[in-house]
Formats: sequence, C-alpha cells, structure tokens
Amino acid sequence: MKAIATANASDSDRILSLLFTYMPRIASERRMDGLLVLMADLGRSMVNADRCSLWLIDSEKNELWTKVAHGVNELRIPLDAGFAGYSVKHAESLLIDDAYKDDRFDRRSDELTHYHTSSVMTVPLMDGAGNVMGVYQAINKQGESGVFSKQDLNRLTLTAVYSAKTIESARLTEEVERSKDELEATQRELIHILGDASESRSSETGDHIQRVAEISYMLAKFYGLPQEDCEQIRLAAPMHDLGKIGIPDAILNKPGKLNDVEFAVMKSHTSVGQQLLGSSRRKLLRLAGMVAGSHHERWDGSGYPSGLKGEDIPLAGRICAVADVLDALACSRCYKAAWPEEKVREEFIKQRGVQFQPELVDQLILHWDEIFQVYRDMNA
Ligand code: C2E
Ligand code: SIN
Ligand code: SIN
Ligand code: FE
Ligand code: FE
Repeated sequence: MKAIATANASDSDRILSLLFTYMPRIASERRMDGLLVLMADLGRSMVNADRCSLWLIDSEKNELWTKVAHGVNELRIPLDAGFAGYSVKHAESLLIDDAYKDDRFDRRSDELTHYHTSSVMTVPLMDGAGNVMGVYQAINKQGESGVFSKQDLNRLTLTAVYSAKTIESARLTEEVERSKDELEATQRELIHILGDASESRSSETGDHIQRVAEISYMLAKFYGLPQEDCEQIRLAAPMHDLGKIGIPDAILNKPGKLNDVEFAVMKSHTSVGQQLLGSSRRKLLRLAGMVAGSHHERWDGSGYPSGLKGEDIPLAGRICAVADVLDALACSRCYKAAWPEEKVREEFIKQRGVQFQPELVDQLILHWDEIFQVYRDMNA
C-alpha cells in the first residue's frame, strides 16, 4: 500500500515537473505549428505514449492536419479517417487496447510508415463554443501493461483542455496581428492616394510627392531622429499639399507668376490641409496635418499661415519645408524652370537660418551628393 502511494506521489511530481517545463515554452511560442509540436510532446510525456500527435480540423478541405516535428511538412488525413476521425465526428474519446481488432482502425498509416500500432487513445479538443476543433491521438503505451489506463485518459483530457485554450488564444492573436497589418497597409495606401489626388490636378508630376517623402526621410535620419519618427515623417510627408485639392485650376496651373489675390488663395492650402487631417484620431494623420499646416512656415517667422518662428514650427514641418523647396527648385514647375544644381545649393546656404533651420541646411549640405542624387537620376 505504501509502495503504491509512493509511486503515485512520484508520478504526480513527474506530471508537475512536466507542466513546469512545458508551460513557459508553450507560452512563448507564437507560431501555430510550433505549438502543435510542443503540445504533442507534452501529451506524449503525460501519458507515456510512444507517439502522440495533435490534429486540427481544416474545415475548408475537410481534413485533419498536424505537424510532427520541426522541418517536417505538415501531415494531412481525411476528416473521417480512423480513430481520430471517429473522435472528431462523435466528439467522443476512445480507449483502444488493440487497434487491429477494431473496425475503425485505418491501417494505411501503419503500412505507409512501417509502424505497428497496438494501443490507442484519442481525445477531442473542444473550443470555447463547445465545437470540436481537433483531436489528440496517443499511440502505444510504454511500459509493462502496454495499454492506456483510465487515468491516462483523464490526463490526456486535461491536456486537451489546456491545449484547446492555448490554440484558441494563439489564433486570436494571429487574427489581431493580421487585421492590424491590414489596417496599417490600408492607412499607408490611403495616404498615397490622398497625396496623389492633391497632385494629380496640378501639372507637377506625381513623383513630387514621393521625392519629398524620401528626402524628408533622409533629412530626418541625418538630423538624428529615431528610426520610428523617420518612418512616420516619411508616411506623413506625401500629404503636405493635400489642401491643394481645394485650389481652383486657374490658380493651381497658372503658367506665370501669381498675383497677390491668387497667392492669397494658394496659401490657404496649408490651413485647409491642416483642417482636413488634423481632426483625425489617427496619430499619423494628425502628424500629416501638422506637416500640411507648417511646411510653408519660415525659420525667421516670415512664413505662412501662422508666422511661427524657429522651434515653434513643428520639426516635421521644418524638415518637409527643406525637402519641398529642394524639389521645387530642382524641378521645373508650371511657373518656373528647373534650377541648375549649384544654384540650388547656393540658395539653401543663403536661406540657412532665414527660411530654414540652420542644422537642417547643414545636414543637407553635408549629405548633398547623396540627397541630390535623386535629381541626377531623374535627368539621366
Ligand atoms: P511649389 O511649387 O511646390 O513650391 C514650394 C515652395 O518652393 C514655394 O512655396 C517656395 O518656397 C519655393 N520655391 C518655388 N520656386 C521658387 C523660386 O523660384 N525661388 C525660391 N526662392 N523659392 C521657390 P510658396 O512660394 O509658398 O508657394 C507655394 C505653392 O504656390 C507652390 O508650391 C506653387 O504651387 C504655388 N506658387 C507659388 N508661386 C507661384 C507662381 O508664381 N505661379 C504659380 N502658378 N504657382 C505658384
Ligand atoms: C515663388 O514665388 O515662386 C517663390 C517665392 C519665394 O521665394 O518664397
Ligand atoms: C516627430 O518627430 O514625430 C515630429 C515631431 C514634430 O512634428 O515636432
Ligand atoms: Fe505647399
Ligand atoms: Fe509641395
């Protein structure tokens, strides 16, 4: 009697140590196939089986699939095949002493793998809604008896409850990640569509948007902003002229110089863009609104729409201002021809601390060759 009690105690110690070994590994595994392998291993150790697999239902293909080990492709069987299929169909566990004496046994897998199945245990996995989502299958009890006990069935059932919960939450995480990615991609795409829309009406090429974004990004990097901020600026910059969608064609595409009234209308593109974007709840769109509203401010305070001065101008706007003017000078516009490279460079040196923040001009000049390459490539 004492011997049995001791055996049981050491047995539960073994189970506990198994759980403590597997739980952190399972908790830190993000990928579904990795989870399946880990939980199959856990199931095998829990009940002392020679083999154990965890099958999940693929309802689109009417199949059960599993992953047995890293590097091995997934295995698939028909949804109704063998003991596992029976357990899935009837939401019932099976405890089989000799597989070959049971009609439900599908011997094809033994034939295929040159293996001899004798004792088998299957336990369905139930999801939170009470539907079968998969099945545990343990094969060939190790040790003297050679058959699984009622206690083994209880243990595999408990493992199945734990595994089902783990898989459900992994799926949920996967889904959240996917829709987050989807949302961010949508956001990015919309930003470019919006940017292009503001540009498509003017005779400037749509590439202006892209170049201003890339040059703003480079300047942000050289200025020493963290990577994340640089990416945000790259994404926000394409919308700096969004407010031009409200400017009449006659002004937007006027071949000559604008008169004072026309220029006053033109200037409204900053505050219009700021209002359109600034009310968004999205951080990125609000940054874009800030850029739209501040990219024509000047370091010396003589810019528009607010006449902000120095560091009162949002940094992203100061950066975009440099990129925007660089692009306006280096390219032809409906109202002006492209300037030669050297003249553009001299203009920035002249505007250092006047129109633009000195440190930004310094970075532009320091990395001039790399940055201006954009325009040499264009004219090549
Ligand atoms: P944009 O063509 O993208 O020009 C952006 C900015 O580049 C201008 O902002 C200005 O700061 C700078 N820039 C452009 N050309 C020159 C130049 O020849 N010399 C110098 N020093 N800077 C230059 P700005 O002036 O606030 O103009 C905003 C927008 O208004 C321009 O965007 C353009 O769409 C329009 N615009 C400005 N002037 C005229 C013009 O005379 N005729 C026409 N049709 N549009 C104009
Ligand atoms: C322009 O009118 O095209 C340029 C005005 C400026 O230098 O800010
Ligand atoms: C940024 O680095 O996210 C821009 C901050 C600013 O506009 O001041
Ligand atoms: Fe502008
Ligand atoms: Fe612009």
